[in-house]
Amino acid sequence: MSIYDGMHDVAVIGAGAAGLAASIFAAEGTANGDPPKKIVLLDGAKTIGAKILVSGGGRCNVTHDVVTATDFFGNRRIIKNVLAAFPVQATIDWFASLGVDLKREETGKLFPVTDKSRTILNALVNRCHELGVVIHPDHRVTDVACLTGSETGFGIRHTHGTLQAKKVILATGGRSLPKTGSDGFGYELARRLGHLVSATTPALAPLILDEALFHKDLSGISQEVELTTRVNGRVVDQRTGSLLWTHFGVSGPVVMDASRFWTSAREKGEPVDLSVSFLPALTQESARQWFMEQAAGAPRRSLTKTLAHLVTERFAESLCRYLGINGQTAIAQLPRKDRDRLVAALTKFRLPVQQDRGWNYAEVTAGGVPLEEVNFRTMESKLVPGLYLVGEILDCDGRIGGFNFQWAWATGLLAGRAVSASVRAEGEAHR
Ligand code: FDA
Repeated sequence: MSIYDGMHDVAVIGAGAAGLAASIFAAEGTANGDPPKKIVLLDGAKTIGAKILVSGGGRCNVTHDVVTATDFFGNRRIIKNVLAAFPVQATIDWFASLGVDLKREETGKLFPVTDKSRTILNALVNRCHELGVVIHPDHRVTDVACLTGSETGFGIRHTHGTLQAKKVILATGGRSLPKTGSDGFGYELARRLGHLVSATTPALAPLILDEALFHKDLSGISQEVELTTRVNGRVVDQRTGSLLWTHFGVSGPVVMDASRFWTSAREKGEPVDLSVSFLPALTQESARQWFMEQAAGAPRRSLTKTLAHLVTERFAESLCRYLGINGQTAIAQLPRKDRDRLVAALTKFRLPVQQDRGWNYAEVTAGGVPLEEVNFRTMESKLVPGLYLVGEILDCDGRIGGFNFQWAWATGLLAGRAVSASVRAEGEAHR
């Protein structure tokens, strides 16, 4: 007799976006044949879906109108294949079938028309209930063992006992926002089952700057910048977008997107440097030219008023103060040396980053189980037959804008359908 209780067809571990999607697709089955009957979804959190609820500022940015592999970091060949299985239009149609209409915003981000992430969570949970998926919150999985000999499938230990399942879908997420239940223990489960886990670092994270900088004075102000990340002196990332000054340092989409390069270089002990152009449309030379034109055209205008044509006046004042240049100086009176220092600071300002803001503020995890260890057509482990991995536990992180949820839906779909087909095929073989 087995030491594990009750046999299930499928046990899904983790009821986040990927686990909920995987459960639904597994329970819906494929066109030809009956879907698995006994699907259980276990989650350590007392109430599930916390991360969906906080996402997108409480509105849940479900996906993006254009999603390509270049919006992600990881093995892009594999990512491309996964994404191809669930194009954005299919995601939109799927949510419509769950009773949720999505709207596209100017940025290309898609949100529920209700502007409430609760709409998304309710739709997913309701569909699970409709399909007979049994959801067990407050059931933290402490071990998953691959059964051998006369026993088949997996033995699962959780905080209320044990269960047995023919197939397991590991959807335990990463390490971001650990209080939601995604505290990285899923990596340990994957490791025990034989998988590698590449170094995990916070991604989509705000960055803390040296106290001596002027960020506190500008807290709440956003500006368009070009942000360049150099590791070992080599440019590894360059992007333009909105930077938000905060009381601790910098945030905003451009910073969040670049943060993964900073955190991963730090993790490896490599020298990393972030530099900003506050004049993304200008080169250093054209900025110098612009200053000269201003000095000729409106020579008595103050330096800060002149700069206010390009950046906010408050930023101009802070930058001048930081550089020890009097912002009230008439532009034509500005010594050449100061003009050159200003131009350099405006176009190539080195951000004094002290550290990232950590897992409590990072939106996702860079690193995880290597994509090469799963079959991208099914998300089944190449090392452990019957084990499937979906969502953020995998070594793939998307930029800000709905891409990480799209990854969760797409991997959930592939694993859910594959598991369903596999349970059915095995059932038929035993008949
Ligand atoms: P997720 O972390 O969501 O779920 C994992 C689940 O597994 C959790 O419920 C956890 O409790 C459970 N679990 C873990 N270990 C367990 C164990 N041992 N036993 C049982 N259960 C266990 N993305 C996006 O595309 N658009 C957006 O708007 C946002 N916004 C956003 C805001 C904030 C503040 C954060 C932190 C993140 C985002 N994201 C986002 C990212 C997005 O939320 C994230 O990529 C997905 O939720 C990942 O989904 P998963 O299901 O893979 O993991």
